[in-house]
Amino acid sequence: MMPAVRLGTVDAFPENRGVRVDVGDVRVAVFRIGDKFYAIGDRCSHAEASLAEGEVFEGDVECPRHGAEFSLETGDALTLPATQAVPVFDIKVMDGDVLLVVGEDET
Ligand code: FES
Repeated sequence: MMPAVRLGTVDAFPENRGVRVDVGDVRVAVFRIGDKFYAIGDRCSHAEASLAEGEVFEGDVECPRHGAEFSLETGDALTLPATQAVPVFDIKVMDGDVLLVVGEDET
């Protein structure tokens, strides 16, 4: 089984807004859109602004600093000035808890 970190209950995450979570030294931006959860790297690939503070619309997040848009599904940079994708993390809901998969399967 993949190692996972419990981030909290589903209700702890407001809809259509980002929440920054630090897992070790990795900054992750978690988004809840309806019943779906997304987790991407929190540092914008352009100049490291926090994507968790960005505005969310139609499955994308807009960087609060210079406005680049990123796909919550793929992490791809969709508009300039960002040109590099941000990482995407596995995230799931189990028994009302939000779990972030943080490592490789050791089996
Ligand atoms: S820091 Fe995000 S677009 Fe510049």
